Order: sequence, then structure tokens, then C-alpha cells
Amino acid sequence: MFIVITKMSEKTKGGLPVHVGIIMDGNGRWAARQGRPRTDGHLEGLKTARKIVEASVRLGIRYLTLYVFSTENWKRAESEVQFIMNLVKRYLVDELNHYRKDRLRVRHAGDLSGLPAEISAEVRKACEDTRAFDGMQVILALNYGGRNEIIRAVNRILDGKALNGESVIVNESAIANNLDNPDVPDPDLIIRTAGEFRTSNFLLWEGAYSEYYISSELWPDWTESHLRAALDFFACRERRFGGAE
Ligand code: IPE
Ligand code: IPE
Ligand code: MG
Repeated sequence: MFIVITKMSEKTKGGLPVHVGIIMDGNGRWAARQGRPRTDGHLEGLKTARKIVEASVRLGIRYLTLYVFSTENWKRAESEVQFIMNLVKRYLVDELNHYRKDRLRVRHAGDLSGLPAEISAEVRKACEDTRAFDGMQVILALNYGGRNEIIRAVNRILDGKALNGESVIVNESAIANNLDNPDVPDPDLIIRTAGEFRTSNFLLWEGAYSEYYISSELWPDWTESHLRAALDFFACRERRFGGAE
């Protein structure tokens, strides 16, 4: 029998996922169904994010990655992008006290340098202020794209080696060690709401062996019971990681 040594969670079947990623999709459709502007959907989606963070803590999840804004979402109308950025800023400021109370650690995945300075400053502050907390880790994927993350990882490897005058070897562990949060285990479960069966550039490297759960519900309609259903689905999955048993 082979023993596969990976960064993945040790659990192969049953139990609770250690790391859950959520592609929070459907805000615009939620708003459109009610004849309201897309921005109302984002506002409602933020409330859902708060509820799901709290529920995840209660359920004992250790890492929760929320896909907040992709590297492709800049293609949207400027007014929508601006609205989302303002929401993110407000979320970071408003939630920080609550995060302190529950000792939640905020982290970021994505390209900080591509964000407006006032947003990247708030993200840095939230990460810094909560760095020592040992509760659940909430990883905000903001200006995040899986391809972009891999490219930045490769460039970090090349820069580091060039500085040290070493020859460059790009292998699996070199890339894994240069991702945005190398110490975070790969996601066991990736949830996507609003019924789309695609990754949309989310955790491409880390999600190689994640279980996928697609929920037809729109993100603003999501509740703790939907999360529980996703966890029940995960508990029944047999994970093989390429093995044959
Ligand atoms: C997800 O909801 C939020 C972001 C991508 C920022 P959408 O805004 O994509 O909602 P739909 O897919 O248009 O319904
Ligand atoms: C993915 O949703 C990005 C986030 C949820 C932040 P999108 O709505 O941007 O994805 P596509 O365009 O439907 O693939
Ligand atoms: Mg969408």
C-alpha cells in the first residue's frame, strides 16, 4: 500500500471538511428576480456572508475561503465594481470587532497590488490585527484568480532564485510553497451557489482534489441549513486522491 504524503487533509471519508471554499454566486440574479438593482443583491449577499461565517464557526470548520471578487470581475460596470469595493471596506471595518471577539483570523488571497490603495490598506490592517488569533481562519479571495496566483508564485520562485544566484527549478512543492497562503491546507470542499458548474478561476491549484458541491440556491438565499446539506454531502464522499482503494 502506498502512503501518499500531501498537504491535503488527512481525512479520506466522512467527517467535517477542514477547509471549505465558497464561490458566492447569484447576487445579481437574486436582485433581478425582485426587480431591484444588482447592487441590492451584493448588499444582501454580504449579510449572507456574515451568517455563513458565524455558522461555519459553530459547525467547527477551521478554514473558510470566500470568493469575494475575481480578477475578471473588473470587466463589470464601474459603478458595480465601486459598490462592491465600498462594501468590502465596510465589511472589514464593521466585522473586525466581531472577529476579535471570536478570535477569527482574517487572511487574504489574491493580488493586493491591483486593489485601490484604501482597500488594500484595510485588508492589510485586518490581516495584521487578527494575525495571532487561533479561531477559524477566514480567507478573503479578493482580486483573486487561480491563474494569477500561480503566475505570481512562479515569479516569486524566479525572483528568489535570481537573488540568491541559484539555478531555478520549478516543481510542485516550489509552487505550493509560493502560493498566497502556503500553510493553509487545500480545500476539502468547494461550494458554488446559483447552479453554475464551473470554477471561474477559483483555487485552481489548491482545488485539484476538492469535492465540489453545486447548490441551485442563489447566494443571498443561502442559510445555515444549506451549509449543513453541503457538509452532509461531503461526509458521504469517498476521496481517493488518485489511489485505487
Ligand atoms: C456574485 O454574484 C458576486 C460577485 C461575482 C462579485 P454575481 O454578481 O456574479 O451574481 P450573478 O451571477 O450575476 O447572478
Ligand atoms: C465568480 O462568479 C466570482 C465570484 C463569486 C467572486 P462570477 O459571476 O464572476 O463567474 P462567472 O462570470 O459566472 O463565471
Ligand atoms: Mg455570477
